[in-house]
Amino acid sequence: MSSNSATEALLNCPSIPLLDGTAHPAIGFGTYKVGFLPASASSAVSGASKADDKDERSAKDCVLDALKVGYRFLECAEFYGNEAQVGAAIKESGIPRKDLFLCSKVWTTTIEKGPEAIKAQFEKTLQDLGTDYLDLYLVHWPVPNHHVQAYKTLEELQKAGKIKGIGVSNYAVQDIQELIDSPDIDQVPLVNQIEINPFLYRKNTIQYCQDKGIVLQSYRSLRDGKAMDHPTLVEIANKYQKSVAQILGRWCVQKGFVYVPKSVKTERMIENGQVFDFELAPDDMNTLDGLTTDDNLQAFLGLYRKCVNRDTSKDGTMDGVKMDITMD
Ligand SMILES: NC(=O)c1ccc[n+]([C@@H]2O[C@H](COP(=O)([O-])OP(=O)(O)OC[C@H]3O[C@@H](n4cnc5c(N)ncnc54)[C@H](OP(=O)(O)O)[C@@H]3O)[C@@H](O)[C@H]2O)c1
Repeated sequence: MSSNSATEALLNCPSIPLLDGTAHPAIGFGTYKVGFLPASASSAVSGASKADDKDERSAKDCVLDALKVGYRFLECAEFYGNEAQVGAAIKESGIPRKDLFLCSKVWTTTIEKGPEAIKAQFEKTLQDLGTDYLDLYLVHWPVPNHHVQAYKTLEELQKAGKIKGIGVSNYAVQDIQELIDSPDIDQVPLVNQIEINPFLYRKNTIQYCQDKGIVLQSYRSLRDGKAMDHPTLVEIANKYQKSVAQILGRWCVQKGFVYVPKSVKTERMIENGQVFDFELAPDDMNTLDGLTTDDNLQAFLGLYRKCVNRDTSKDGTMDGVKMDITMD
């Protein structure tokens, strides 16, 4: 496939209907660790640094490339520290706002500070991205004792016409249930953005969301690039004459999850977009479905417990953390 036809495929990618009838592009470009590494994502104790690779290109250059390649859904966040650069790329691309699908997320520290801080951060995100509305705005983590109020603040922003849809990220079944059960909340989240790949395929959580009509946005769909030499993946990739990344991406879109690959390399952006021209046979889907181990689920559980309070005044504590969530 030429890069031109890859671009055509991305521009004409399928969409996934959200509960409110909005068409969500089935593939997007992830902007985490693009040109910038947030402090708490590195071993640094405080402050923030540029991306760890000294040769790494700026976020603006990478996002501009992603837009040229054909990505139209940009997956952003306050935490990623690069929204102004993403906005600069959007501006330089000249692509009309209506042709883009912009999603951002509010970080734990802002969630902890409360509604006024969330509203101020939302305005900053709009300004940085150079837009007057978002297609989706999400609560990044279910910060204990604060996330329901944060979601309610997002509902208010939506009612003010500044956000088309709202959702959540990293929510366990029990977090979503807490939200839905709250008398203050009017609507079920449109999406839940969680890690999903064959190595972390949490069927019960996914089923719970799907039963409620909540669309799954999959992150780390490429397992953060750390499973590219897994023998089962290599074998399936050879069978289909595709790359391992394309097998992981195809598994994700074939399952009906929104696929959000990240790469700072243009050739990989093109490669990752080529997942709509082949289909994995049921046997191979089943093989991939079976790669999730108990160890992976336990690792996920540890990460969830650590991250719900990450960067907040409760960081490093289990204060308010739900210890009994649905793990799988
Ligand atoms: N809500 C959340 O808490 C959360 C958490 C994590 C991520 N996310 C979102 O999801 C997006 C994707 O997740 P992610 O960035 O963590 O991980 P990912 O997309 O699974 O993997 C990214 C890694 O894979 C490498 N890679 C990309 N394409 C490749 C290819 N074709 N072949 C080999 N290696 C390849 C990248 O390296 P190069 O860049 O060097 O190519 C990078 O190291 C993020 O950017 C962000 O938007 C959300």
